[in-house]
Amino acid sequence: MGAQIIDGKAISSAIRQQIKQQVMELQQKTGKSPGLAVVLVGEDPASQIYVRNKEKACQEVGIYSEVYRLPQETSQQQLLDLVHQLNERQEINGILVQLPLPDHLDEMTVLRDISPDKDVDGFHAVNAGKLLNGEKGFVPCTPKGIITLIKSTNVDIKGKDAVVVGRSNIVGKPVSILLLNENATVTICHSKTADLKSHTQRADILVVATGKPNLITGDMVKPGSVVIDVGTTRVEGKLTGDVHFASAKEVAGWITPVPGGVGPMTITMLLQNTVEAAVSQWK
Ligand code: GUN
Repeated sequence: MGAQIIDGKAISSAIRQQIKQQVMELQQKTGKSPGLAVVLVGEDPASQIYVRNKEKACQEVGIYSEVYRLPQETSQQQLLDLVHQLNERQEINGILVQLPLPDHLDEMTVLRDISPDKDVDGFHAVNAGKLLNGEKGFVPCTPKGIITLIKSTNVDIKGKDAVVVGRSNIVGKPVSILLLNENATVTICHSKTADLKSHTQRADILVVATGKPNLITGDMVKPGSVVIDVGTTRVEGKLTGDVHFASAKEVAGWITPVPGGVGPMTITMLLQNTVEAAVSQWK
């Protein structure tokens, strides 16, 4: 008996259908479409693919989008000027600056200058603070997608031991807070954690976001647990997760595949956040 597969692709596609419907209704009611601006600086190949996918996803659900592809040598001031212009534009409801930025640009400064009302990535300190306080704000897309996937299993998060491996600002930290807000007992593990296995073996819900391919093997997984694999590293041309799928699948109750698990959910949550931004700005 293997684990049930959590089909992120199918769940994502069903949510996108709902978003498409919602966008159509908004257009009928207001005569306007939600608008997203995506800013990409430099030539990072993975970022170029992500940005193209975001543009395509917007088109598919009827969200208006603008993509700014800026050269590698863009200055901090040029980037900030663009962000300030986008903050002022009525037809732009959401702004996303693709990360990572080239080394000479300061990510924190750029993110801080995006209007928190248009921060559909949820990376602004105001939205991070709201998440911590349990107030309504924009929730980062990958963590939001992860919670949606866990809920799709109908496993009750409340009271469960949740272990998050990874402490990035984009995934590990925010998903830990979301799980805590759902009343899980949360442990955050990272590269300096002593005896990682002793923690993961107790996890009813295990979220792994380290970028270390196959870090978690079946012997580290609790029988019957929900395993969410956020890793996507190319190994010998093949997209590989942080969880060794073949061995973990034999032990877990539910597991996300790579690809086709968390990945498709991230852009779907971005579309959801963009519609949310438009609805609250049009009030
Ligand atoms: N780089 C990797 N993931 C993300 C994300 O969710 N948003 C942005 N802006 N950049 C990223």
